[in-house]
Amino acid sequence: MSVLRNIGLLATCRPEGGQGDIHPIPNAAVAWDADTIRWVGPEAELPAEFAGGDTLDAGGRLVVPGLVDCHTHLAFGGWRADEFELRLQGVGYLDIARAGGGIMSTVRATRAATDAELLDRATAALEGMRRLGVTTVECKSGYGLDLETELRLLRVYRTLAATQPSRIVPTFLGAHVVPAEHRADRQAYLRLLLDEMIPTVAAAKLAVCCDVFVEDTAFSVDEARDIFRAGRAAGLAPKLHADQLSAGGGAELAAEVGAWSADHLECSSDAGIAAMAAAGVVAVSLPIATLYLRQQPMPARKFIGAGVPVAVATDFNPGSAPSWDLPLAMMLACHLQRMTPTEALKGATSIAARAVGLQGKAGEVSVGCRADLAVIDSPDVNHWLYHFRPNACVLTVAAGRVAWQAAR
Ligand code: NIG
Ligand code: FE
Repeated sequence: MSVLRNIGLLATCRPEGGQGDIHPIPNAAVAWDADTIRWVGPEAELPAEFAGGDTLDAGGRLVVPGLVDCHTHLAFGGWRADEFELRLQGVGYLDIARAGGGIMSTVRATRAATDAELLDRATAALEGMRRLGVTTVECKSGYGLDLETELRLLRVYRTLAATQPSRIVPTFLGAHVVPAEHRADRQAYLRLLLDEMIPTVAAAKLAVCCDVFVEDTAFSVDEARDIFRAGRAAGLAPKLHADQLSAGGGAELAAEVGAWSADHLECSSDAGIAAMAAAGVVAVSLPIATLYLRQQPMPARKFIGAGVPVAVATDFNPGSAPSWDLPLAMMLACHLQRMTPTEALKGATSIAARAVGLQGKAGEVSVGCRADLAVIDSPDVNHWLYHFRPNACVLTVAAGRVAWQAAR
């Protein structure tokens, strides 16, 4: 039995209520047994049976659920700092891709990387995330784009899930773009996706979700529909990169196929937003990518006003979002998307958990959930995201164990 005491403010982030309802408890304590939370409430009411175990002291600080990064491209080879500079000089993201850079540049570097290199880099990223209080991470493939390399990426995630205290949700993104070697015959790549990749990935239980980048330069709505059908038949839940660079009917498709989430959404139509609301699809906002591509922000207020829950994630990848800093994404969600700090927190906890199928299991401090907690050196959520620092997280508990502790 373990207990975290002397919590100045506990943001439980239970899912009920609106986007900004974080269900706080002042002067709280949380008790857990092995990796599961057993008691949550005001410290004055802590039952005697929980008082005697290993004790951690929050020092009167803010405590939040272990954060959930519900959209990352965690494993990849190489970086693309050269493209960062080109874009700053005015060269477009799609122009760089058409010239052979962009996603294909990372595909080449990923194919050339060894399994050990991919694993080492992804392990370091996960550890960096835990220091920031992030304990659950959705991880996409999509920089292999051939069967062998896609499987290698997903096996990296399986190894991480087995060896790291973070919880991993693996997603198959073989439909990221049509790789260069198939450009002359995209039907051949679609057949490879439908007939070989999806069945092989699903049979090996290497992914939970199936993602498609729906965009003029990637996959059409009709192609994506076929991919999701094959994914569903194999037991993979749909998620999509939608309406990032143009309004391409991605939000509408997400509603049609009952996706767990539609992500990016900078260019979604009002009809798409209404369809997502009716279908109960989570909107995942990715403000670091919005910033790096200097786009108009995703209209979070419209989504929230329409009744669509808005998650906040990093989109960590070497092109559009080269940072795994989820608190940074939350701060940017406030500035760019006009979300309040508590709305951003709920978007990076219980709403993000719903976007990866972990509702009631992660992203909230409730009895029965995994004991994932972050102690933040702030009196409240507003102060945390307002006074932005390299790291305000002083202690992370993942699966019931201390996974990071700042030097005193
Ligand atoms: O989520 N939109 C597509 N995929 C990534 C970017 C990939 C890249 O540039 O390497 C994204 O932004
Ligand atoms: Fe992405």
